[in-house]
Amino acid sequence: MHVSARRLSLLSAFLVVLLSTLSTDAARAADSSQPMADDEVWITLGADAFELLQQDGFRFDQRLAGGGHLVGNAVATRVPRVDLDFIVEALHDQLNRCPGFFAHGSEAEAVQTLYETQNPSTRGGQIEYVINQPGWVQALESRIDKAQILATIEHLSTEYNNRFYQHPSGVASATWIRDQWQGFAQGRDDVTAELYDHAGWAQPSVILTMEGSTLPDEVIVLGGHLDSIASGSSNPNFSAPGADDNASGIAVLTEVIRVAMDAGFRPERTVKVMGYAGEEAGLLGSQEIADDFNDNGVNVVAVLQLDMTNYKGSVQDMAFLSDYTNSTLTQFAKDLIDTYQPELAWTNTACGYGCSDHASWHREGYPAVMPSEAIFGQHNPWLHTTSDTVSTLGNNADHAYKFARLATALMVEVGLVNVGQLFLDGFETGDWSQWSSTEP
Ligand code: BES
Ligand code: ZN
Repeated sequence: MHVSARRLSLLSAFLVVLLSTLSTDAARAADSSQPMADDEVWITLGADAFELLQQDGFRFDQRLAGGGHLVGNAVATRVPRVDLDFIVEALHDQLNRCPGFFAHGSEAEAVQTLYETQNPSTRGGQIEYVINQPGWVQALESRIDKAQILATIEHLSTEYNNRFYQHPSGVASATWIRDQWQGFAQGRDDVTAELYDHAGWAQPSVILTMEGSTLPDEVIVLGGHLDSIASGSSNPNFSAPGADDNASGIAVLTEVIRVAMDAGFRPERTVKVMGYAGEEAGLLGSQEIADDFNDNGVNVVAVLQLDMTNYKGSVQDMAFLSDYTNSTLTQFAKDLIDTYQPELAWTNTACGYGCSDHASWHREGYPAVMPSEAIFGQHNPWLHTTSDTVSTLGNNADHAYKFARLATALMVEVGLVNVGQLFLDGFETGDWSQWSSTEP
């Protein structure tokens, strides 16, 4: 959490001075699950409107550091419900806005909206995300093997000193991933695994493509970064095992490919599984790819980001990022958990800055979701150190397994088209007995 976090806090310091009463600490939004008092409501509004209300003598909630959250030129804040009329009137009279703000059910929802308003081109919601493929989900999920996940983490974190984007071992590890993925796809003429070369540095990204059978132009991206970093990176042999960050994400993606091929799964939409180069140097690989896709008009309908999946640092099993993500897709992923892994508990969190490759896609207007291993701040304390190894992960892949199941379910449910809806009469969560039309 170096470069960008620092850069961001400089920028925030500037904005805080500018709009003196606001907090930009979006990470605090993470712990926003406390229920709201009935007499209070979260709203989002323009920073200009927020300032104007203050000039009008409106006193914002002092229990919130600075009065709320500021992202770009929009603010999320909490106000007494009885004051809504006053706010409507003030914004109408002075800014001619009607009403000039949005009300939200929770702090997390309000903060997520803030980030989305920064990117009005977000194409989320252009397809309907529906859960109706329990047969295929179960066929794939039942094949997921924790030992396989652990073996991939182990290989990547021990066979190379590091996976740095400028060093030979960074290239070798990417090539190994491509070879693994290609191996699973043998005998499938609809599946390819390729290196994606970048102009400015040695390490390639890796992309496996399962060509969609009926809607090939609608693309689902499942990704995570394949590089690693730790101090001493100018030495080509420096030690950066990156077992959790992010061999664990690559291992989950690898397992998703393995079970899909093993079960003979063929998506109707195109599925692209990506290992990104150079994330630790500033989201370099994913930014170039997302930019390339946008320039070429590629219709990406969902992006799942997996970065750090195997350290259980929180009481909850998963924490969904509310920043630089799409709320509709995030809700869908939560629904997938509630449907297929109801024993798990999830919560919301935020990095407060573009901490991983989901931000690259979000910036290009594509809908992204990122389930994280823990609430931000409770994540693996060994990241970016020589101690990010399988042993500090407890020598098992129990936590990553949950992410493998979620990634599998998302690939299947978005990958297969919603014809099953026709047969959904009488369908209830957990009751799949009447399901027959699309059994694998
Ligand atoms: N895996 C981290 C991001 C992360 C940290 C996710 C903690 C969840 C919890 C990622 O690889 C990383 O280190 N990102 C950088 C920023 C990037 C733009 C260089 C960071 O967080 O400083
Ligand atoms: Zn990472």
